[in-house]
Amino acid sequence: MSWISQHRRMLSAPCLALAAGLFWPAMSAAATQAPVASHDRTPAAVYRSACQSCHGPDGRGIPQSITALPLEVPDFSDCNFATREPDGDWLAIIHQGGPARGFDPLMPAFGEALTEEELALALAHVRTFCGNRKAWPGGNLNLPRTLFTEKAFVEDEVVVTASIAVEGDPAIASKIIYEKRFFSKGQFELVVPLGFKKPEGGDWSTGLGDVILGWKQVLFHSLRSGSILAASGEVILPVGDVEGGFAQGVMAFEPFVSFGQALRGDSFIQAQVGGVLPSDTERAARRAFWRVAAGKSFAQSRWGRTWTPMIELLGFEQFKDGEEAHYDLVPQFQVTLNTRQHIMANFGVRIPLDKPGTRSTQFAFYILWDWFDGGLRDGW
Ligand code: HEC
Repeated sequence: MSWISQHRRMLSAPCLALAAGLFWPAMSAAATQAPVASHDRTPAAVYRSACQSCHGPDGRGIPQSITALPLEVPDFSDCNFATREPDGDWLAIIHQGGPARGFDPLMPAFGEALTEEELALALAHVRTFCGNRKAWPGGNLNLPRTLFTEKAFVEDEVVVTASIAVEGDPAIASKIIYEKRFFSKGQFELVVPLGFKKPEGGDWSTGLGDVILGWKQVLFHSLRSGSILAASGEVILPVGDVEGGFAQGVMAFEPFVSFGQALRGDSFIQAQVGGVLPSDTERAARRAFWRVAAGKSFAQSRWGRTWTPMIELLGFEQFKDGEEAHYDLVPQFQVTLNTRQHIMANFGVRIPLDKPGTRSTQFAFYILWDWFDGGLRDGW
């Protein structure tokens, strides 16, 4: 048995996990102590006795040269990393240990050694290490991604979406979406649409749609009220396959605002309102759209896989003579695929609510990878 696996096994005993002291070997020696004094339960005191030995007095982590751990502990003073992690994920790790989110078992489980109140106190202290917390939207405001209503939170993500017509000629509209966060509140976005269709009697054909470049900026966020508001501007570039019928081929500007509100019991509402302003209104009409979504997340056996049923109402209107607004309803559910919960899928059905027969019902889904939280093969 290697040194590491020996220590891992010893560490999984919760009492050892609590061991205070700066040095790794010293912690092993302290295995039988119960360092969390029940009379002193301030956030700082719980952290000092239970977490500080590895995570350090300033949350930056005790250097590997001292801990002799085979991996680095995370730096909680790094706001870019620490603020985006929601309380739920971190509580799961603190309660159940690193493996609860596909991390190393060297992060011990405290669920038996500390009360739930103490776990919350330790987390509260961990939250103080990012000195400029108010500037960074907190991870609790990162509500589940819907199929169509754009969220207000800023992300580092790759998403592949597809809408498949369930009536009429076979057709698939897919998009590859790349999102990269900048600074505390900005996000760049690139969308590459790809279409596939098979007209009656013909063969499958494939074509590029009009590519979209965008910027999102969080305007307001408050963990206290659970709300977040962002404004976005996107430019639709006429580079797609117009002849094949996969693109409009008209440059357009798409401004919109997104709003998210976290509610009690892991439920939420999200909304998005915007417009599409083509440069050439002869070839493409101006349009407006409004979308609302509501949902609630459920964690399997409290700390495990997360299921989020949601429903969206999509409204849109083209500003053309005689055109009326259209409405679609999209029941859907999102599910986390891996233990780290940074790879997820969402499945739904887009049902036209008006003018039956003119617009097709569509089956819609996405696969999402939050690449900040790990590689595609991490955390399964
Ligand atoms: C025995 C050393 C040790 C102790 C004691 C310890 N941790 Fe950790 N912790 C780690 C290591 C190592 C990791 C990194 C695991 C990885 O990256 O795979 C970690 C990771 C974490 C993470 C996950 C961060 C992320 O990457 O998302 C959180 C949260 C955390 N610890 C909180 C705590 C809290 C709170 C306490 C006290 C109640 C505590 N830890 C006590 C070693 C420890």
